[in-house]
Amino acid sequence: MEKKQQWGSRLGFILAAVGSAIGLGNIWRFPYMVYENGGGAFLIPYFVALLTAGIPIMIMEFSLGHKSRAGAPRTFSLLNKKWEWLGWWQTGISAVIAVYYVAIIGWSFSYMFFSLNGAWGDEPASFFLNDFLRLTSGPFKMGTVQFGILFTIVIAWTLNFLASYGGVQKGLERANKLLMPVLIVVLLIVVVRALSLPGAVHGLEILFKPDFSQIMNPSVWVAAYGQIFFSLSIAFAIMITYSSYLPKKSDIINNAFMTAFLNCGFSILAGIAIFSIIGYLQHQAGGSLPDNMAGVFLAFVTLPSAVTQLPALNGLIGVLLFMTLSFAGLSSFISINEVVVRSIVDKFGANRRKVSVWYNLIAGTISIVFATGAGLHILDIVDHYINSYGIVFSGLIQVVLVGWFYDLKSVRDHANLTSDFKVGAWWDLMIRFVTPAVLGVNSILNLITDLRVNYGGYSTLVQIVLGWGLIAVLIIAAVAAARFKWQGGDTASLTQSNEA
Ligand code: PHE
Repeated sequence: MEKKQQWGSRLGFILAAVGSAIGLGNIWRFPYMVYENGGGAFLIPYFVALLTAGIPIMIMEFSLGHKSRAGAPRTFSLLNKKWEWLGWWQTGISAVIAVYYVAIIGWSFSYMFFSLNGAWGDEPASFFLNDFLRLTSGPFKMGTVQFGILFTIVIAWTLNFLASYGGVQKGLERANKLLMPVLIVVLLIVVVRALSLPGAVHGLEILFKPDFSQIMNPSVWVAAYGQIFFSLSIAFAIMITYSSYLPKKSDIINNAFMTAFLNCGFSILAGIAIFSIIGYLQHQAGGSLPDNMAGVFLAFVTLPSAVTQLPALNGLIGVLLFMTLSFAGLSSFISINEVVVRSIVDKFGANRRKVSVWYNLIAGTISIVFATGAGLHILDIVDHYINSYGIVFSGLIQVVLVGWFYDLKSVRDHANLTSDFKVGAWWDLMIRFVTPAVLGVNSILNLITDLRVNYGGYSTLVQIVLGWGLIAVLIIAAVAAARFKWQGGDTASLTQSNEA
């Protein structure tokens, strides 16, 4: 039997959980969400979402992982033998996200170097799409593999491999203890620089100026809950996996609150940095806002253009900006890969290191797709379907099953047992009523939009193959994986051997 994998310290666990939560979503998604959904007023639905759904689900996942001391498939099969597939579904979602998320980390690495001499010139959009990505006309037109991109993807997989192969303490914990402090210091430097640019204050006004009329708008609430789910890395097995490595005596509730608040604090800081920069660009352009204020194009078109226009130290600030994206991305990437490794190790009673080697090789090979000219198209569609259906549905099923078909109180008691602060019956209310309702509404609204208009203007065939088809394949694969026998005995006996 291998040595039991466990976090070396409470700080190590929190940094890893925060490392997972803080990702690209905090930097390129959160600021724009605030801007688009009522500015400062958005923070009200956002914090309501945090308290009524984000933290309760995080407590639930920490509690389940801590209780089962296993990855998601085994955790769910311990609750009920018939639920194992849900754990595999979440594992599949994580694997899919991993193979494309790595591409964005790779691009960020490249842009760190491009910053040194402003390689994108004065046409960053054309540079990004045509020169760098060599984007083709559609997802089925592969074009050629860009070896520069492939190279950075390999680097990102290699870094992940080192973290994964090293195990929990010597790999995951070490990586996060390095990445997180550096990330926070670098972000703080960027914030200070950005705030001192001309136009920065105006940028912050655009971001935070509250439009309270928006609070009555249901879509603003849906956006707030959506952002919380994605940002906290809940409902895709990560937090279950990470908490399964907690020592017996761990303060679950406090850890959940800390992880959530650190993540949201980081988001707000990132928002300040990004909108100070946007204010500066607006100032430079004589009043018009940049075209792209979110997502891939914020990162790889708008920020480069800002870096070029900076009055001084362009290269340095550029490197630091893309370092925040790279580091935030890497720690999330590491967490999502751990989900897959853990699920396989559990199921096959396999050696963690062997699984890690094979997983990184196979997933790494698949991600070559994202180094081709079709990469960004495929990434765009897959990301949309995985977020709108994969994560939201699996989250919905998870809260309904655990909330309604399992002894929810025992999960709460478990969380309370080792925690300083205890959660009361309000928590059950959140899990049983509030979160299913919000996730339900969320998925119906997504469905209506997607059935009305093809996402991203891609053809119906594309939606069926890369969107719905992928979701269906993941579900079928999950059900199939759950039918395999647990190696080395059934789940019940496995837990006992785990307890020992
Ligand atoms: N919380 C992450 C983010 O904000 C979401 C994520 C986690 C994405 C892990 C990918 C991998 O970006």
